[in-house]
Amino acid sequence: MNINRSGAKFSKIVSIGQKIKELSRKNGKEYLFLNRGVNAVCNIDLSEVIGNIDFNSDNIQVYPPIPGFPELKEAINDIYFGNKTSSANITITSGGMNALDLVFQSIKVKDIYLPAFYWGAYIHIMTIRGIINYNYDRFEDLLEKPEELKDSAVIICDPNNPVGDKFSDDKVLNLVEKLNAEGTIVIFDSPYRRVFYNDDDDFYQKLLRFDNVIIVESFSKSVGLSGQRIGFVHTNNADLVDELKIRLLYASNGVNAFSQQLVYELLTSKEGKKAIDDFREKTRNDIAENIKYLEKTGLLAKEFYLNSDPIGIFVIVNKSEDELIDYYIGSISLSFFTRIDKEKANKFARICVSVPHEKFIRFFKPLAERLN
Ligand SMILES: Cc1ncc(COP(=O)(O)O)c(C=O)c1O
Repeated sequence: MNINRSGAKFSKIVSIGQKIKELSRKNGKEYLFLNRGVNAVCNIDLSEVIGNIDFNSDNIQVYPPIPGFPELKEAINDIYFGNKTSSANITITSGGMNALDLVFQSIKVKDIYLPAFYWGAYIHIMTIRGIINYNYDRFEDLLEKPEELKDSAVIICDPNNPVGDKFSDDKVLNLVEKLNAEGTIVIFDSPYRRVFYNDDDDFYQKLLRFDNVIIVESFSKSVGLSGQRIGFVHTNNADLVDELKIRLLYASNGVNAFSQQLVYELLTSKEGKKAIDDFREKTRNDIAENIKYLEKTGLLAKEFYLNSDPIGIFVIVNKSEDELIDYYIGSISLSFFTRIDKEKANKFARICVSVPHEKFIRFFKPLAERLN
């Protein structure tokens, strides 16, 4: 059988997880899986929400409408956009990965620019779709070459994966405004933002005036439902909405109806809102405590946070993947998230700080004690 190999690689994150599990099986030790990319301080508690869902209704048992349930899109318009957009501009997708893939397929650009430190899946999706891509080091670098970027797209991920840093909203808006004015497409893919902001966050509303901005969102991180595979795309461009709908139809025939109903309940019911608030509060609290601990013990790689703040859910530590594994801590070498100076990046690791603080300290204490 001849296979049309794309050249994309399986995720390093998955293979590291398997390696650590194997180590643990062999030596019987407990490991802390900070190589993962999910919030693990707590699960979102759905017990009060599930009762609101009628599993026998057509809403769950029959094909869903292709761009997503109208009531879910209205709820997203309300909670993410303060009712200032039209729900017709929102397309429900099977998570952020699917949303990015649909967007990359649908926009006609010469190339796409990614941050210097980027989520590896961007490159793999682009490899599959045959899209040329480059990196940008700083926002300022993008503003220096408007002509070159006229027929390109730029991805902004803030807070960033893998660095976990956040630039000020004003700085991001200033960049978006300038790129938009030059005709550059901005793909705003920041699924970690709403872990740290509540429903009164009006940043997406501020992005609505830019016609070249495409917002990609996910419910994997901000409400802890990575298993449900649900997210959305927002664009003011009717042709793009139309194309996304067609590609969604012939790729997957819509998005899982149960996950759409579940997110609808979370966004609209009293019980759902409480479940989200509780999840975010606990998650944010332990993330902040964990970052504080790394700063205090000198383990945070401060050089990555000179012009931005370490927020999470990831941070970079000044220890390598191999050094951390000696302390039973799983991580991913920073070299997997960059094409620039991989040798230097190999001395650092990305860790997920969204784990219970007490457990985090238990694993990091022996390392911190050796250093201090
Ligand atoms: C930067 C970034 N964008 C998008 C996603 C997609 O998440 P999902 O497909 O679970 O919605 C991730 C997941 O790790 C991510 O890190």
